[in-house]
Amino acid sequence: MWKGRFQTDTSSLVQRYGESISYDWRLYPYDIQGSMAHAVALQAAGILTKAELKAIHRGLREILRDIDAGNFEFRPELEDIHMNIESALTARIGAAGAKLHTARSRNDQVALDVRLYCRTETARILDGVRGLQRALLSCARSHSDAVVPGYTHLQRGQPVLFAHHLLAYLEMLERDAERLRDCHRRINVMPLGSGALAGSTIVLDRELVARELQFPAVTQNSMDAVSDRDFIAELLFVIALIGTHLSRLSEDVILWATAEFAFIELSDAHTTGSSLMPQKKNPDVAELTRGKAGRLTGNLISLLTTLKGLPMTYNRDLQEDKEPLFDSVDTIRLALDVFAEMMAAARVRSENSRRAAGDPFLLATDIADYLVLKGVPFRQAHEIVGKLTGHSLRTGTAFPDIALEVYREHSAVFGPDVYAVLDIDTALKARKGIGAPSPANVGRQLSRWERLLRQPKPL
Ligand code: ARG
Repeated sequence: MWKGRFQTDTSSLVQRYGESISYDWRLYPYDIQGSMAHAVALQAAGILTKAELKAIHRGLREILRDIDAGNFEFRPELEDIHMNIESALTARIGAAGAKLHTARSRNDQVALDVRLYCRTETARILDGVRGLQRALLSCARSHSDAVVPGYTHLQRGQPVLFAHHLLAYLEMLERDAERLRDCHRRINVMPLGSGALAGSTIVLDRELVARELQFPAVTQNSMDAVSDRDFIAELLFVIALIGTHLSRLSEDVILWATAEFAFIELSDAHTTGSSLMPQKKNPDVAELTRGKAGRLTGNLISLLTTLKGLPMTYNRDLQEDKEPLFDSVDTIRLALDVFAEMMAAARVRSENSRRAAGDPFLLATDIADYLVLKGVPFRQAHEIVGKLTGHSLRTGTAFPDIALEVYREHSAVFGPDVYAVLDIDTALKARKGIGAPSPANVGRQLSRWERLLRQPKPL
């Protein structure tokens, strides 16, 4: 493509070092789409005749069909997807093909391709997020009265509905959906026409190209347009954060599936056995997802590190954006899908979780609140119940079994109505502030999510 200036061929080591076709071949549908739109602008500017435009479109469609069908040979000596397609086009249709690269550089071409790729994948990842939200919602729905201990520091804190716990993940995923939408806005800007860095003396109608490719806007600075990869960094961050959320969910699932917790049972289809220990049923999907979260963060850091020292404008370092991007997109899409399938098939063992949540200590705060409602300042109430906890531990008597006289020794305001506080269902019902887990609230939240997910906001 640049043989004019050079006297010797590129070293084969350099070819191997610099080629990107082994991974950027996946950009082919976008590269072809972009070239078709560019050709329209070239024809409008009088560079191509109508017949040449037609020949280019026909040739590109053929190439698309051949690549789709696996009948296209990618050549590493042509470096990347852009030159592979352009050279195949010229081989097929001749002179018109050789005109296609007028007023275009691979710098604005790759910027366009990657934006088109990110645009498509952002929508797919959003679908994946929705799918997982639906799976979690259906799991919450079908076990809507299951109770679990809520934990802080992984120590039992207060009882909550299992559904409330799962709906926490719907909130996280909703913010992720919001971030995808926001990131999509900045992806969705058309860079073609920026040339290598300074546009071209052959002025094309960039708005026309944008319309052809359904972009609502065009980039406003040619130097920025060819060197900007912020939109990839943002997408990698959003993906890494989704991965982090999935990793936290993984950790919950792994704990819940242990014999010690035994709050859920994963389906055979979503677990693996051990080659040695016949009794094992391992939550590998959750473990892998927790593990992959590290890779997703790594991909984000990798790109940020690549970008941080780059002078304006395009530098070949930027070719290093693609592998982390493709890897993160592939990984998160699969993770979301497999997680949705696994959660939809999980069985909640609510008898076990209710037993754990029935630990009377989980209602210690409720006893303190009881005292507060009788006029005791909270700090004092906290201390009184702390002492009662000590008594309970020393004597092996649970809160409901402690005699009223003993309660009264700790505070004279205790009356027989304290025992009513020590009921888990009463305790749950009482938590009826906005965002708290009373069954009525959680029921409303389930309906709200059903409504939201029936017609989720599109990109
Ligand atoms: N494969 C290159 C990349 O991914 C395409 C752009 C090459 N441009 C250049 N001036 N060498 O960044």
